[in-house]
This record gives sequence, structure tokens and C-alpha cells, in this order.
Amino acid sequence: MSDKAELHYNGNVYQLPIIEGTQNEKALDISRLRGESGLITLDKGFKNTGSTESAITFLNGEEGILKYRGYSIEELADKSSFVEVSYLLIYGELPTAEQLKSFQAEITNHTLVHEDVKSILDGFPSKSHPMGVLSSLVSSLTAFYPMSLDPNRSASEVNGTIIRLLAKLPTLAAWSYKNRMRQPVVYPKNSLDYCSNFLRMMFALPTEEYQINPVVAKALDKLLILHADHEQNCSASTVRIVGSSHASLYTSVSAGIAALWGPLHGGANQAVIEMLENIRRDGGDVEKYVSRAKDKSDSFRLMGFGHRVYKNFDPRATIIKKAADDVLKELGVDDPVLDIAKTLEEIALNDEYFVARGLYPNVDFYSGIIYRALGIPTDMFTVMFAIGRLPGWIAQWKEMRENNEPIGRPRQVYTGYTSRDYVTIDKR
Ligand code: ACO
Repeated sequence: MSDKAELHYNGNVYQLPIIEGTQNEKALDISRLRGESGLITLDKGFKNTGSTESAITFLNGEEGILKYRGYSIEELADKSSFVEVSYLLIYGELPTAEQLKSFQAEITNHTLVHEDVKSILDGFPSKSHPMGVLSSLVSSLTAFYPMSLDPNRSASEVNGTIIRLLAKLPTLAAWSYKNRMRQPVVYPKNSLDYCSNFLRMMFALPTEEYQINPVVAKALDKLLILHADHEQNCSASTVRIVGSSHASLYTSVSAGIAALWGPLHGGANQAVIEMLENIRRDGGDVEKYVSRAKDKSDSFRLMGFGHRVYKNFDPRATIIKKAADDVLKELGVDDPVLDIAKTLEEIALNDEYFVARGLYPNVDFYSGIIYRALGIPTDMFTVMFAIGRLPGWIAQWKEMRENNEPIGRPRQVYTGYTSRDYVTIDKR
């Protein structure tokens, strides 16, 4: 097979090299196309454009495969821990027992945030969405660690920022919730594991002892693993593109949190529960909402359905669906919204509209149900996603910097006016 494709244009022939990945997926390298032919490519929403070569995460949307650094998501979700998966994503290999111990110890040593962060937090109105607060607080870390502004410093200094982010994000996330509730913040407790520490900072009150439920902590850990990376999605691409201007890692991750917030991306988990609640309040007529989702004159979409790359099933949704059943059973929670979700899934999966378009439940369809069972409030769902996605963002940023990638700067096809004469305001 040829390792080049040919483009015939205007009587000329241009050779486009074929790049092949380790899983045999192929790409046309068009990086010299404009210089040679004057043509650019147009691909709105980058639906068919590779922005980079990456060795972090592989996914095959047709076959429903997801792997981090070559390890299947099913195996990692079953056997690993979130901290271990974070190490794998960021440094490329599973840690030895010794490496994991010291990685965990380093993270634990940095969980506290500077006391002045509390004054920033106090400035937010109580109705602030925790995602906005989290993005701002992460960006504010540049003020406390000014050295981090230069991402070209030594690898060990950059690593300090990586550790601080992993350590402090759960603290900042829990504090953004405490701010919303107008409750006193809870300081981290370093004898606890990553998820238990977060749960305590979220839910402990000064009035009583907080008991960590190991079932809840374990379920949360699994959810974080499932969210840890997803190659060049909207927020990861944002992190890479912001970082490509040599902005700091804190700033890049803050931008990633903002990108994740939207309901077409991470915000879908909040939108799913709100949609299911609406259906329930409206009498539970699932068919009505499926019809609305199919009606092109109605902007309503079934939240938690459809994915840019998964067109058969989302492997994370399969794991989460089972985990949701297990967690609800173990915690003895009977959530009517789960029945609505199951009916909705059944109807949609058998409906020609959804089948023809390859619309299947995505990771967010069931994650909200587990978060609810774990006692996480709805507007914190996307924050949970952000905690999970952090190691992926870091790994993507680090890879982009280590490969010395150029600044991200797409081109466009201009469709505006060509040239107009300026008219003074009194003559318009
Ligand atoms: N409900 C109803 N119809 C849908 C849905 C949906 N949830 N999703 C896509 N469609 C339809 C579109 O109307 C379109 O139909 P058409 O071909 O007749 O015009 C077709 O399916 C393709 O949809 P696009 O929007 O072109 O697909 P795209 O890949 O751009 O969008 C997306 C993917 C954003 C995830 C979309 O499916 C969606 O909006 N889903 C709901 C939001 C959601 O769950 N987001 C979470 C994604 S997972 C994550 O980010 C972690």
C-alpha cells in the first residue's frame, strides 16, 4: 500500500504523506499543503482532523475500545486506583509499589491551599456555580506560585506544579461547594486516601463526626478512573491549545475546566439528571421526550445520548451502568429517576432515529445517578468530572510541551465583506 495520497488540483498533483499510528489508524499529513498549493482544509468542529500525535489514550469509537497507555479501561477500573491511573497517564508507566507510595506521599503533602485562597473564595456570591469558582481558583494558583508562570523551567519544577494541582484540586473543589452552602471550609486530613479526603472536605460539618463510607469512596474512585482521559476532546484540546502559547499549567487547566463546564461536554452529567427530574415531574411520559428529541423544530436533545466518537456504545457507560446498579443496591437507595433512565435508554435504543445516527448512552448518562446516590449535589457533578479528568489534562499538556509542539493556530475561510468605505456616524 502506498504511503502517500495524491491530490489533483488545478492541473497539479500534490503528494500527501500518510501517517500511521500504532493501532493502524491512518491520517493524511496536510502540513505542507498550503505552502505548496495555496489550499487549506476546512473541518468545522474538527470532526475529521487530528490535531496531534499522542501516545496517551487510544479509543476506537466503532468498536467501543478505550485504553490508557495501552491498558484497557475495563481492567484499570476493576483493578487499579485513581492515583495509580494518574501516575500511569502522566508518566507513561504503571508505578512500582515504591513509586506509587512516594507519589501518594507527595500528593498528600500538598493538599493544603494557601490561607489567602479563602479570601478569594469569600468574594464569590453563594449562588456561584462551583465550576466557575473552581476554574477561577485554579487560575489564582499562579499568584501563589509565580514560578509556575514559566512552563520552560526545569522538569522537577514543572513536576512540582503537577503534584500541587493533583493535591489541591479536591480541596478547591470541596471548598467551592462549602462556599455555595455558606458552610465553614474543612481542611484536608492527610491520613485519608484521595477520595475519602475529598468526601470529608465536602460533607463534614463542625457539629458532628463525619463517617466515611468505604462503598462511597470506592465507587467515587472508579468514577474518577473512568473519566481520567479521553484523548483530544473539547477540554483536553483546550488545555493543549492554551498551553501551546506557553501559558502556565495552572492557567491551561483553568481553561480546561471552563471548556468542560458546557452541557455538550462535561456539563452533560448535570443536564442528564435535570432532564430525568423534569420527565419525572412531568408525569414520567418518556415517549413524549423521545419524540421531542427527534423533532428538528424542537431544540430539546436527549442529554447523555450521543458522542462525537462512540457510534456503537461508550465502554465507560457499560461499566458505569453496572456500577450504578451495584452502588444503589449496596447503599439501599431506591431512586425513581433510575427507572426513568432505564425506560428512556430502552426506548431510544430501539428507535430508528437513534439507531440510524449511532446515538447511544454516553458516560454521563449514568454517572449522575451514582453521584446522586453518593450524596453529591447536582451542580457539583461536573466538578467531579473535572477532578477525574485532571490527570488527563496534565498528561496532554505535558506531552504537548515535551514534544515542543507549535502554538495552536487554525486558519479559516473568510466569508465577510471584502472592502467597504468607512461612513461617519452622522451619515449612517
Ligand atoms: N438527542 C437527539 N438528537 C441528537 C442527539 C441527542 N442527544 N445527539 C445528536 N443528535 C442528532 C443530531 O440532531 C444530528 O441529527 P441530523 O443528522 O438529523 O442532523 C445527529 O444526531 C448528529 O449529531 P451532531 O450534533 O452532528 O453530532 P456531534 O458529534 O457534533 O455531537 C454531541 C456530539 C455533542 C455529544 C451530541 O450527541 C449531543 O449534543 N449529545 C447530548 C449532550 C451530551 O450528552 N454530551 C456529553 C458528551 S460525552 C462527554 O463530553 C463526556
